[in-house]
Amino acid sequence: MDIAEFTREFELLVTSEQAYPVLITEGQKLLEKLLKQRDLIAEAVDKVIREADFLHGQILTIDPNEITLYRSPQGNFSLRLFIWEPGIAYPAHDHGSWGVVGAWAGIVEEVKYRRLDDGNREGYADLAVKNKAALSPGELTAVLPLNEGIHQMGAVGDLPALTVHAYGNPIRKGYIQYFDPAAKKVIKVFAPKLSRKIVALRALAGVREDWARQLLTEVCRDKNPQLSQEARLSLQKMQ
Ligand SMILES: [Fe+2]
Repeated sequence: MDIAEFTREFELLVTSEQAYPVLITEGQKLLEKLLKQRDLIAEAVDKVIREADFLHGQILTIDPNEITLYRSPQGNFSLRLFIWEPGIAYPAHDHGSWGVVGAWAGIVEEVKYRRLDDGNREGYADLAVKNKAALSPGELTAVLPLNEGIHQMGAVGDLPALTVHAYGNPIRKGYIQYFDPAAKKVIKVFAPKLSRKIVALRALAGVREDWARQLLTEVCRDKNPQLSQEARLSLQKMQ
């Protein structure tokens, strides 16, 4: 199975509108075949390092340790490579979509969490460890969207670990959440472009001038709920 065949079959699976357990079982079967073709991922890593154009024009995603290998033109799924460096405590997080994950090199540890609170208290999240597993190359795991797929990943030992992830169609777009299980805290982390817009909207709260008030009032009606919410908060702070 080459990447073209994988992406063709994954696209069919994603658009089949089946239940999550089926999507995950079938998605893992496809990813397992792809992981066996060692050259394919090796070629992708080679491209990232050697080809200046490969990264140019890519949509920047939230995770700095991620390289997008393929994105469905219809926006139905993406294939991504994650690099887990030793000694870095990557945050526990949720996802906007379901996904299948396979280890490609090194040993990666995955901690899966269960969320105990109802999510109604802003900034608060109570998590309990559900499962801990170390994955060797060829081994698979999966995530579900939102609270059903909170997990944390990281390299085991002194060498980096590489994992390949195929994510389905998101049911929530624009941000993910980072959790601090010990402090029982959660924060929203926005995609890079959206994040800059949000920072700019927050800054306007301190600019008590008519143009800023007018701009915030306009953005209150923006169809992106994250932008309209931030604009409303900034307006409240301004008054
Ligand atoms: Fe994840």
